Amino acid sequence: MEPLTPPPPLAEPAVRIDSHLEGADERSLADDVLDGLTRPFKELPPKHFYDERGAELFDRICELPEYYPTRAERSILQEQAEELARLTGASELVELGSGTAAKTRVLLDALHEAGTLVRYVPVDVTEQMVRACAEELTEEYPGLQVHGVIGDFERHLDRVPPAVGRRVVAFLGGTIGNFPPGSRRRVLRQIRRLLGPSDYLLMGTDLVKDPEVLEAAYDDPQGVTAEFNRNVLRVLNRELDAGFDPQDFDHVALFDRQHEWIEMRLRARRAHTTLVRALDLPVRFEAGEEMRTEISAKFTHQRLAGDLSAAGLQLVRWLTDPEQLFALSLSRRVAS
Ligand code: SAH
Ligand code: AVI
Repeated sequence: MEPLTPPPPLAEPAVRIDSHLEGADERSLADDVLDGLTRPFKELPPKHFYDERGAELFDRICELPEYYPTRAERSILQEQAEELARLTGASELVELGSGTAAKTRVLLDALHEAGTLVRYVPVDVTEQMVRACAEELTEEYPGLQVHGVIGDFERHLDRVPPAVGRRVVAFLGGTIGNFPPGSRRRVLRQIRRLLGPSDYLLMGTDLVKDPEVLEAAYDDPQGVTAEFNRNVLRVLNRELDAGFDPQDFDHVALFDRQHEWIEMRLRARRAHTTLVRALDLPVRFEAGEEMRTEISAKFTHQRLAGDLSAAGLQLVRWLTDPEQLFALSLSRRVAS
């Protein structure tokens, strides 16, 4: 009889997706609604914008002539990707709030060209986006492993798998600015834990500029940003059986000059009470009452360096576009 030869080891599957949101996701929305809609100044965290429709609306925002951050960040990436690939020598790209990973391809291309790229780890709350982008990227980059993490980067960063070689954590688009200053530093401290001594954080931040330019970017004449803002009400209607009529609310975007952040709000057009049935919670709005749905902080070099340093990180490169609209920063862990 022929001796048995052991079967060849199974190849690592190209795509693996872990979800950390089942059940807990609903609880977080319910908690946020219970907490945020019973405050004297009503507020909801922006992560609930991004269901499938919200993600599509965000993609449309990125194409708007008034919304410059996406184009500015892409231009910096195109200019710098080769140098970033050389400097970091990264074999792994972890991306927080990866979305459709549209701009990420510029970086993946450079790392692929440099011959170092092994794995991409997208982390996002929106499941469909993580799954779709994992499938697309494994087709676009033969040999690439994708380990998607469906989760909340305020709660689940400890679930990011251990690094495969040198790692770059990318946090693009200016999403760090959607956290108020205290939470921002807490998130940065958690990101620091993902970094080894040879790893880097590559982060996009929108810069302080003329308030008119800023307000136009968040209040476009086509009304796409207004629909994105109202979309959170549709999410509450669907997920928590609430009875909001999005047309009862106006979109508001204003630049707070003191804090240097944009605030998006929804302003009630008339006095009314809506029941959030899943929580048995009646919510009263007076005519003209506003609910905050997002802040989008704008940065200076000094503000960013301060936030990074408070989180045990050190700025090593500050890259901007010629008009200084947006910045990409590269930072490393301060040795502890
Ligand atoms: N990085 C992309 C997308 C930015 S939109 C770009 O630069 O264009 C913000 C993304 O972050 C969305 O995909 C949204 O689903 C995700 N997101 C927002 N809050 C989140 C949270 N708390 N945890 C995980 N993902 C979050
Ligand atoms: C995802 N984030 C950085 C966007 C921003 O500009 O703050 C979300 C957004 N809100 C309105 N337009 C875009």
